[in-house]
Amino acid sequence: MAFRAVGTSHPNPPVGAVIVKDGVIISRGWTQPKGIPHAEIHAIEQIKNRKEIEGAHLYCTLEPCSHHGKTPPCVDKIIKFKFSKVIISQVDKNPLVNNNSVKKLRSAGIRVVIKNFGHKVKTLNNTFFNSIKNNKPLIILKIASTADGKIATNLYESKWITNSTSRMIGHKLRSLNECMIVGTGTIRKDNPVLDCRLDGLSNRSPDIFILDKKLELNYKFKIFNNKNRKIYVFHSNKVTKKVRIKMVKYIKIKEYNNVLDIKSIVRKISTLGYARILVEGGAKLSASLLHNNLIDEIAWFRASKIMGSDGISAISNLNIDNIDHLKKFKLVKTKTINDDQLSVYRRK
Ligand SMILES: NC(=O)c1ccc[n+]([C@@H]2O[C@H](COP(=O)([O-])OP(=O)(O)OC[C@H]3O[C@@H](n4cnc5c(N)ncnc54)[C@H](OP(=O)(O)O)[C@@H]3O)[C@@H](O)[C@H]2O)c1
Repeated sequence: MAFRAVGTSHPNPPVGAVIVKDGVIISRGWTQPKGIPHAEIHAIEQIKNRKEIEGAHLYCTLEPCSHHGKTPPCVDKIIKFKFSKVIISQVDKNPLVNNNSVKKLRSAGIRVVIKNFGHKVKTLNNTFFNSIKNNKPLIILKIASTADGKIATNLYESKWITNSTSRMIGHKLRSLNECMIVGTGTIRKDNPVLDCRLDGLSNRSPDIFILDKKLELNYKFKIFNNKNRKIYVFHSNKVTKKVRIKMVKYIKIKEYNNVLDIKSIVRKISTLGYARILVEGGAKLSASLLHNNLIDEIAWFRASKIMGSDGISAISNLNIDNIDHLKKFKLVKTKTINDDQLSVYRRK
């Protein structure tokens, strides 16, 4: 249930809830888009006769909330409807909750069991904890390259290096992430839309953060056309120019080494409530994130094609001249997609 909410629940974490009465599942819920309602309430609301809930058990992948946010505390509804037992995979490390609901439920006479539902749920919750506690969202880098690691020809042609099935998996990846960061190089060369074009999932296109230091991008680029998502432009705090488009939100950021300070950008995105970021290259942006050790996972699609050294490398200069300073990842999954290969790497 929690996995149904991945990519759409922000600023809230993706949570799943299951209600069991006399050993039978009577309802299921998951965090709804933009986090409203929460999973527990979504599950409760699907039961027509609320009296049926009395004595039922509630399973939650995360501790229910105890604070007033956009919605009232879920814990009060759980007490009101007289659940007899609540089974929680993890206590919420969000300082606003952090065991408060467990205590409140127990003092209301409800049995609470904290039992790890497994590493997949733990990974989902940890992504949320890391974003709210350390301002470090999960960052996934997606690369589509030739077998020799080139993402475009020397004339900047990149359509299409990988096959249509790989590209569909790429779109699925977009649907599972809350936002994307993109540099001006890719916008100028490719004029991408960066939406999710899978049937039935177009409403899951991620919000967009554009890095445009000097505010020089032409607003006729297709990326600005999608009205169903938020678009932010980061620009240098030295820029005084007043280019303003109504639907775009502008954020000033300091420069570091002549580019926008990528660490501040990531922190800012986290404070805006995003816990999952997808990055689809270009070479300079990927290098900038890797250089600062900000990439948690890489989904690398490689076609069985060779371009040669005049093509553009997936990652631009990292200034590494010592083998001990290589960026190290572990290979966690591989998949053959006709003549392409997907390798998933996770930071060591
Ligand atoms: N096959 C693939 O998977 C794939 C995916 C995407 C792109 N591409 C290819 O990649 C090529 C573009 O790559 P690129 O390296 O030229 O451009 P890029 O990485 O998309 O964008 C780099 C630009 O973003 C701006 N920027 C601002 N702050 C930055 C920071 N902290 N770090 C990095 N960039 C920052 C800078 O421009 P300003 O100074 O103007 O702000 C910089 O020149 C295109 O040919 C495209 O086809 C391939």
